Amino acid sequence: MQGLFSFAQGSRKITLPRVRLALTPTPLEPLETTSDRLGFFLSAKRDDLTGLALGGNKIRQLEYYFGAAREQGATTMLVTGAIQSNYTRAVAAACARLGMRCHVQLENRVPGMSSDAYRDSGNVLLTRLYGAEVTYFAGADDEVAADKAIHAVANRLRNAGEVPYHISLKADSAPLGSVGYLHAAQELLEQQPDTTHVVLASGSGQTQAGLLTGLRMLGSGARVFGVSVRRAPGAQRARVLSYCHTLSAMLGVEPVVQESDVQVFEGNLNTGYGLPEDGLMDFLLGAMRREGLLLDPVYTGKAFAAIPRLKEQGYFSPQARVVFLHTGGLPALFAYGPEFLSRLNRIDA
Ligand SMILES: Cc1ncc(COP(=O)(O)O)c(C=O)c1O
Repeated sequence: MQGLFSFAQGSRKITLPRVRLALTPTPLEPLETTSDRLGFFLSAKRDDLTGLALGGNKIRQLEYYFGAAREQGATTMLVTGAIQSNYTRAVAAACARLGMRCHVQLENRVPGMSSDAYRDSGNVLLTRLYGAEVTYFAGADDEVAADKAIHAVANRLRNAGEVPYHISLKADSAPLGSVGYLHAAQELLEQQPDTTHVVLASGSGQTQAGLLTGLRMLGSGARVFGVSVRRAPGAQRARVLSYCHTLSAMLGVEPVVQESDVQVFEGNLNTGYGLPEDGLMDFLLGAMRREGLLLDPVYTGKAFAAIPRLKEQGYFSPQARVVFLHTGGLPALFAYGPEFLSRLNRIDA
């Protein structure tokens, strides 16, 4: 084991097993052009630079899943994700690094995305290059049925003498990934103690829950705005709150996050998870060309696009010090190559 997260509360000391995977602290980078355009100070916390397998937020999250898995003597990690899941790529990479086997179950969550690039490039290519065994789940976006299918795989592996560890992202699962974001909260406050807001993409909700809990535990009142990329804001809010409560219980502390403190905004731009909508693609091209930032159309692009909208709605004053948490996801850009190219061809025509 390469490290433990310890948290002392009164006489209780909680320790959670951790395997170090992420290169941290990640930089906090001012985004000067966008700050000038928007009229408040905006910077990017570059969690796209966490190192392993082209980085991203999943690398921090996996430190505690792999810690738990190794403590249980696991030999094979199992995880379900969308075809272009960043999670499965990160799990496959960590398994390769740690000498473990990896089984990935992919599901097609994005109807209409059927190009060769989407099916075979980007994250799915990297997942396979890292040596993961890949199976396809026929249902789409059904956590319960997908879990059932992967449990069948786990049983098969168990019968073959393996020790499987399933990373479950169901709302009632223990949010070990959130623990990784307690560290990110601490880093951020060391880098910019007067941060007023953080804007991030919210999918499973574990990043948002961990960062928010960490900030509150450290006495910061910075608001954390989750931009929901997969669910209606109400459902996502309930999910994040439930993770916050479970996380506090895991750490042995009183709940530090109140319901009103969980803020989630619509990030789907009226399309759906992973669907490249024209307005979003244009926005991404503009942001990339202004700041040299790479953003993806599934997560970070939607979160970044929410910042000017939230400003218009009056959420950020000129004194605000806003942080965009760049959670990575860049391999997916290649999966959306055909959609970007047709956009570019129309612009250039
Ligand atoms: C690039 C990227 N950003 C953000 C998220 C959302 O993180 P979370 O699932 O912790 O809400 C994901 C999740 O898959 C992701 O891949």
